[in-house]
Amino acid sequence: MKARILYGVIIGLFAVLQGCSSPAKNEASTAATPTGGAPTDEIEKYRAMIADGNPADLYEAAGEDIWKKPMGPKNVSLEKCDLGMGPGVVKGAYTQLPKYFKDTNKVQDLESRLVTCMEKLQGYNSQEIIKAGFEKGKRKDVEAVVAYIVAESKGMKINTVAKHPKEKEMYDLGKKSFFYQGGPMDFSCASCHSENGKRIRLQDLPNITEQKGAALGWGYWPAYRVSSGNFWTMQRRLNDCYRQQRFPEPIYISDDTIAVSLYMAINAKGGTMNAPGLKR
Ligand code: HEC
Repeated sequence: MKARILYGVIIGLFAVLQGCSSPAKNEASTAATPTGGAPTDEIEKYRAMIADGNPADLYEAAGEDIWKKPMGPKNVSLEKCDLGMGPGVVKGAYTQLPKYFKDTNKVQDLESRLVTCMEKLQGYNSQEIIKAGFEKGKRKDVEAVVAYIVAESKGMKINTVAKHPKEKEMYDLGKKSFFYQGGPMDFSCASCHSENGKRIRLQDLPNITEQKGAALGWGYWPAYRVSSGNFWTMQRRLNDCYRQQRFPEPIYISDDTIAVSLYMAINAKGGTMNAPGLKR
């Protein structure tokens, strides 16, 4: 028995180290595997082992440079960007996002807010960033800046709220979207993320409908992903979950992705922001 568990651990770690590159084609069919405990404990140990050298550090450093460097058609930096706590305030800003912004009259997550700043302050075309694809063009800069901003909230308490009517509206929309079933498998986010102890392969699937699980899900993303060898923003994490759900690819920073993010962040309130995390 023990040997079998150990074997599972070794195979699991091997998959982690190999990059486990075959994406989630079959993940849904094994969605209901109950948690055994030991294999994921080992994954935790592995995470702890490499946490000292999270490669997200490199993205944070690049992001800080990009934030401070005059760029774009207007040749200005992002240092006057208001992330919700006043122009230029980055410390703790991520703990309150997504939130309502008066100037755009919209609830925005970090990425949509950065795109707004790149357009308004620097003169970039937001549509180009939205259409670019992950790690492409100016989107790549957004991703690095995300790493920098998020790291400035590391260890702080998640404090996203629904006070403004638009925030309440978005929370309700996000909740609806989270439970909305559709696609060829009739999946919703809730199909994979609303029970305790659910697992796909060696990945624990947090129960995002509860505070504890939401804090695990929301509080460890964005993250460096070992399996793909790159940094993933929350928008990218979600994009991949829509894919696992067999839903059409969501438009980058679309209202639905922000609504679902707000739903998760508010559920996670009081938890710790541990991002940039380190994930499989
Ligand atoms: C078919 C199952 C499935 C569906 C449906 C699904 N996800 Fe996921 N989700 C996963 C898997 C598997 C992972 C872990 C992936 C990994 O680590 O490689 C994950 C990870 C996550 C995480 C990060 C959790 C963590 O602890 O790292 C969040 C947040 C998340 N999903 C949100 C969502 C949302 C929101 C939706 C609906 C839009 C959704 N998911 C739909 C399977 C699913």
